Amino acid sequence: MFDQHTPQHPEPSHTILHISDTHFVEDDALLHDKVDSDANLARLFDGLRKSSIAPDALVFTGDLADAGQPDAYRRLRALVEPVCADYGAELIWIMGNHDARPEFRSGLLDLDPTQEPVDRVFDVAGLRVIALDSTVPGRHHGELTDAQLEWLAEELASPAEHGTLIGLHHPPVPSMLGLLPLVELKEQHRLAEVIEGTDVRGVLGGHLHYSTTSTFAGGIPVSVASATCYTQDIQVRHPAARGMDGAQGYNLVSVYPDRVLHTVVPIGAYPTVYEMTPEILQSFMEKSAAEQAAMVETANRTEDAEALAGAGR
Ligand SMILES: [Fe+2]
Ligand SMILES: [Fe+2]
Repeated sequence: MFDQHTPQHPEPSHTILHISDTHFVEDDALLHDKVDSDANLARLFDGLRKSSIAPDALVFTGDLADAGQPDAYRRLRALVEPVCADYGAELIWIMGNHDARPEFRSGLLDLDPTQEPVDRVFDVAGLRVIALDSTVPGRHHGELTDAQLEWLAEELASPAEHGTLIGLHHPPVPSMLGLLPLVELKEQHRLAEVIEGTDVRGVLGGHLHYSTTSTFAGGIPVSVASATCYTQDIQVRHPAARGMDGAQGYNLVSVYPDRVLHTVVPIGAYPTVYEMTPEILQSFMEKSAAEQAAMVETANRTEDAEALAGAGR
């Protein structure tokens, strides 16, 4: 029974919230006149605070503002920085095609408002996180310049204690939607050549507004977080696109010594089917194996978790 198991896996060494495509708009207006981007992100944090999740870092993979507006960055920063402070978590902003480098730099990073790519390296308790700026000013597709790829190769020349995660807005994956190849990362093989054989353990992306996973560069996992603002309907007839106000979420990244786990977490509150509180489960685990077996059998027979809950008290 439960109390006789030795866990097969250790606790993760690092926990990261991978959040994408917040698309904040100016003056707290509604995105596409329908979506309250601020409220959706606030709901994400409401759920986080109710949980035991304790992030070491929050990684935002781009399209943080819908059109690079300073006011959008100001509100986004005001909402997110206190959360990171509460958890002592590193805050990693990454550029997206809807962002504007000068406003992003000054509004989120207190840097000079230049058009320089926003490429940065973070040491999150021995885990290296590299933020790559895959944007092209004024365009929606992604590119990495020769200089960026050379810089990346230099960074990766020496391994990090817990390996490396790379975050960039335009993920190097095939698209599920007909429209998206027009706005994808160009010459993805060039990035693959740089990271293959290095300590990179995963690539985190955004841009698609749906969650998907793949491999890249000889088997390196790629994980795309959906959007917090609105999502893309995958079940459309091509060529078409339909943004929908539902299924928003983020990815919870759990880093283990031998693997990286990506868990899609929906945003919002939903009706309860059944609930086992920490008190109930604690009481249950303190029972003998025979008592636990009887309780589970009763619960199964009655198809009623309340039986287990009641027996556990
Ligand atoms: Fe986006
Ligand atoms: Fe995008």
